[in-house]
Amino acid sequence: LVLILDYGSQYTHLITRRIRSLNVFSLCISGTSPLSAITDLKPSVVILSGGPHSVHTPDSPTFPDGFLHWAESNGVFVLGICYGLQLIVQRLGGEVCIGHKQEYGRMDVNVQRESALFGAEKVGHSQVVWMSHGDEAVKLPEGFDVVARSQQGAVAAIENPSRKFFGLQYHPEVTHTPEGMDTLRRFLFDVCGVLAGWTMEDVLEEEIKVINNTVGQDDHVICALSGGVDSTVAATLVHKAIGDRLHCIFVDNGLLRYKERERVMETFEKNLHLPVTCVDASNQFLTELKGVTDPEKKRKIIGKEFINIFDAFAQELEQKLGKKPSYLVQGTLYPDVIESCPPPGSGRTHSHTIKSHHNVGGLPKDMKLKLIEPLKLLFKDEVRQLGRILDVPESFLKRHPFPGPGLAVRVLGDVTEGNALEILRQVDEIFIQSIKDAGLYDSIWQAFAVFLPVRSVGVQGDQRTHSHVVALRAVTSQDGMTADWYYFEHKFLDDVSRKICNGVRGVNRVVQDITSKPPSTIEWE
Ligand code: XMP
Repeated sequence: LVLILDYGSQYTHLITRRIRSLNVFSLCISGTSPLSAITDLKPSVVILSGGPHSVHTPDSPTFPDGFLHWAESNGVFVLGICYGLQLIVQRLGGEVCIGHKQEYGRMDVNVQRESALFGAEKVGHSQVVWMSHGDEAVKLPEGFDVVARSQQGAVAAIENPSRKFFGLQYHPEVTHTPEGMDTLRRFLFDVCGVLAGWTMEDVLEEEIKVINNTVGQDDHVICALSGGVDSTVAATLVHKAIGDRLHCIFVDNGLLRYKERERVMETFEKNLHLPVTCVDASNQFLTELKGVTDPEKKRKIIGKEFINIFDAFAQELEQKLGKKPSYLVQGTLYPDVIESCPPPGSGRTHSHTIKSHHNVGGLPKDMKLKLIEPLKLLFKDEVRQLGRILDVPESFLKRHPFPGPGLAVRVLGDVTEGNALEILRQVDEIFIQSIKDAGLYDSIWQAFAVFLPVRSVGVQGDQRTHSHVVALRAVTSQDGMTADWYYFEHKFLDDVSRKICNGVRGVNRVVQDITSKPPSTIEWE
């Protein structure tokens, strides 16, 4: 295991991901964790991340007392990156000064001497790296050598190979450091002697074992499928472990996309052989939503209805099985887990410990279910890899995200007004199908249509019309937190607009949303 101690750098997750991409298992915990939390994990390598702090600030985060002593006595390799390097220097009696040579952005660094970090052949070699630091190590602890310096003469890499302590002032994990992956690879495999061998097949096998050891022979497990990647992969994995003691529910809330219920149920049943109860609750949801225009009220109503249905499902199961289900499967991912305990000063928020059901409500309070979260150590792309091994169809794994409240946040205002939902479904289908036909689907984070509560004047077939306006929204994004609107070619937009106005009765105008996030959000409500 390669353990990352997080001091709040925006790149910490990236270190974990880079190491995993080398087929080495890596985990990240808070840099201020107690010593026992570190030693219990038995890492062979510990990497101290960068962070926005200065070691001179009182209460700046640091590793626990005894950590370096424990590492040295147990032959554990330690690499400090940026702030991590400065921590090592300061804690071992060297000197870090508040930098007069602040270095931000691309820099040249030059390897000064033969070293374990770069090897004999790199002496005199210069490489471009990404620096981002104000403070600077000016006096190294005894036994350390400076092995590389920046063009301004600042310390860029240090090592004490006999104590197995190393430091890089720059960030090898970012793509702006083109040789960074080579350095990490060399450090892990040649210097630390780590063996690569961590694969998704191993993860699958291990998770199945864990589930079988956790869930008793006559325990039952429930899972709410949203039609999204995470819950589907999580359910498929649990099903592989415990078979039909898993009971899934998929709710048609009347707010799904064109033929969505049929399409996802076909995948669940035919491709994945999941035991799914499909509940058509559209009337129930739409009755409750009648006349409601406030977006947050809509979300609350939908959340509450989900809970009611979930409750009824659990009671039905209890009657059928003669006992209550004991476990609930959740598709929680690793970023949710890390984000739930960010280090002090990282600027990241304590967002949520566990994703609420469908992200729209919660679970009935008296259900007292224990959680199974088989994806909680994985990133999204790793979940997709796992899905591939579990034969989840590729088209399903690559689906754009879809919000829990569904089309309710894409019909602005009252969703039950006229045939807004039906119009939106048709428009959305034409837009998405055109995107797929043009081969653009995988380059877009999310694309959808929005039904606007306005009418505009038009002319169709010599007739004056007073019909609906729809908006098309397509964005690129890394994580949905920020987004850029997608630049379609004019010809593509022209074709889509024609298809919509000719194909969907009641629409005479199509507009495109050309705002990024911020200032807008991705959804309109
Ligand atoms: P916004 O509109 O906040 O969306 O920029 C960011 C991402 O979150 C999705 N989204 C939701 N997902 N329940 C969900 O499960 C919601 O209430 C919700 N609102 C927005 C949105 O589709 C985008 O991917």
